Amino acid sequence: MTPIERFSLKEEGLTVLSLFDGISCGQVAFERVGIKVKKYYAFEIETNAIKITMKNYPNTVQCGDVFDSSFTEFIDKNIDIVIGGSPCTFWSKAKCNKTAKSKKELDTNGTGWKLFMKYVECIKTVKPKYFLYENNEGIPDNILLEISNQLGVKPIMIDAALVSAQRRKRNYWTNIPNIEQPRDKGLLFKDIIVNDPSLIKVDERIGKTMIISKNYVKYDLGGHGYYSQQDRAYFPDSKAPTVPRCRTETKFNLWLGNNTYKKTCPVEIERLQTLPDNYTDCVPKTRRFEAIGNGWCVDVIAHIFSYIE
Ligand SMILES: C[S@@+](CC[C@H](N)C(=O)[O-])C[C@H]1O[C@@H](n2cnc3c(N)ncnc32)[C@H](O)[C@@H]1O
Repeated sequence: MTPIERFSLKEEGLTVLSLFDGISCGQVAFERVGIKVKKYYAFEIETNAIKITMKNYPNTVQCGDVFDSSFTEFIDKNIDIVIGGSPCTFWSKAKCNKTAKSKKELDTNGTGWKLFMKYVECIKTVKPKYFLYENNEGIPDNILLEISNQLGVKPIMIDAALVSAQRRKRNYWTNIPNIEQPRDKGLLFKDIIVNDPSLIKVDERIGKTMIISKNYVKYDLGGHGYYSQQDRAYFPDSKAPTVPRCRTETKFNLWLGNNTYKKTCPVEIERLQTLPDNYTDCVPKTRRFEAIGNGWCVDVIAHIFSYIE
């Protein structure tokens, strides 16, 4: 880019096309890094996610389902950047249920690949100055390689643990140049806590079955010899695990000592993703957890965008 092009991007703001926009964490990241957004087009189909985006960014132009567009309508819109992370559930190790639909796809024939190829179609059609594509670190190697072949760049792995209190390894494919790893801010679980006494639980049964691990204590409250993921409480001085898409509320207890732990609230999960407090408060609690878990860690994306200048 010439200095004049750079100047005009900064002054006028970027025109952004976001696929699989979710709750528009990309838009929060632009704001955080101080890059003006002139126009933001978003493809998203989930009602609650759209509601959250429109509460926070009412000027967003919602465009619906990626499969209903060939993206030709954006050719003359001077799109500066196309961003997106197609749903990773098809390729992810994490499974929320045991239905056949959630089985991991191991090749480029499944729905996960079709969704990704809509992203490829989009950048080939729109020809933006920049692109940023994100997906899970745990996707199969052959799919990772094929994504790199399609996009013409190798991924950069960034762990959100560097900029947040949560571990979250993700791959980023982009033509934004010279990206380095973010500086470690040293954030821990204790840094994102909301002091709400109603969330504190005492259970005398914990002491009888408690096992102490490196980052958490686990206990067998059911008394069946089974240590479920929800009967676990993390030490305040540890990193939280990756915010998942489901059952977040039961998986993120904080250990306070003396058979006491604290349940997690949506604002804390927002903080783990470095979202503003109450960003998602326009939808019911369970939907908030899902939307946040689906989203990006804002400060990682802001870090990547900071290299646009
Ligand atoms: C991994 S999430 C991306 C979250 C997003 N990066 C954010 O900041 O919140 C993938 C998103 O793709 C959306 N999605 C799935 N199929 C879609 C489709 N056919 N068209 C548009 N969006 C779709 C899902 O509803 C989900 O919100």
